[in-house]
Amino acid sequence: IPSLRAALQPYRGHEIDKQDRQQRIALVPTMGNLHQGHLELVKIAKQHADIVVVSIFVNPTQFGVGEDFDSYPRTLDDDVAKLATVGADYVFAPSVDAMYPVLPPPTTVLAGAISSQLCGQSRPGHFDGVGIVVSKLFNIVQPDVAIFGQKDYQQLAIIKQLVRDLSYPIEIVGAPIIRADDGLALSSRNQYLTESERQVAPILHRELQDLAEQLKGGGISQQAFESLLKDKRTRISDAGFTIDYLEVKTEALGSVVSDSTTFNIENKNIVILVAAWLGRARLLDNQLVVVG
Ligand code: PAJ
Repeated sequence: IPSLRAALQPYRGHEIDKQDRQQRIALVPTMGNLHQGHLELVKIAKQHADIVVVSIFVNPTQFGVGEDFDSYPRTLDDDVAKLATVGADYVFAPSVDAMYPVLPPPTTVLAGAISSQLCGQSRPGHFDGVGIVVSKLFNIVQPDVAIFGQKDYQQLAIIKQLVRDLSYPIEIVGAPIIRADDGLALSSRNQYLTESERQVAPILHRELQDLAEQLKGGGISQQAFESLLKDKRTRISDAGFTIDYLEVKTEALGSVVSDSTTFNIENKNIVILVAAWLGRARLLDNQLVVVG
């Protein structure tokens, strides 16, 4: 931590580069085992800043009991080589002891109501763990801008809330989901899939796209909406997934269903979110829908 701080100090406020301007610092937080989705975040970061710092830290406080903290793939040398190809400037890969002198840390970040739904329901405390580690990374790196993927839609919403509530002077940029050619959202956890599961996995994205098509016209009765969702859940389960959730929310992760019997999604951006297990892998995906 002290050596990263020292390395970044010359770029900050009072120092100026040859063009007489401040250097902007971007942070791309990751847990490593980098794939093209992560590398695209770095490319976006470079468009927003002069110096790009990538953190690689498998954060224990966001893993629950029985989750894959111990087996999470750690591939630091490969990661550093990949980052060099996209022009990252610094890699920050601290030890658990350096990040958490006391574990669990007695000081916590609570992400509130937004974090208890969707992923938070099956992973209690997960987003509080994300909140504290991102908060620490923000304080250590003090970036001007930080990039997060829209693949983890709820996480991005929680980070925006964190920045607002704790007054971080940091711009948050959301980056589009990067997919394999067959539509599967790239994820470090995809490597838990067997070969045959890997063939099945893209169905998740296809079913989301199909649901998005059916919802984009808006104006649908509550009953028709419920039955569409039910049908989708059945199709996804029948394909071999164990659904954690499949839900439709407003962009801000509020409820889309009105009090009346009419489904009130006219002229709103909505998002379909899914988490489903396929074998050992818990797959996440989402699809934005512009209604109307
Ligand atoms: P990790 O899963 O390694 O993801 C790091 C960043 O990459 C996140 O912002 C995530 O949304 C983004 N990302 C992953 N796959 C992506 C894809 N296919 N397309 C676009 N972006 C993608 O998310 C975490 O780590 C951690 O929770 C972290 C924020 C680092 C805190 O520990």
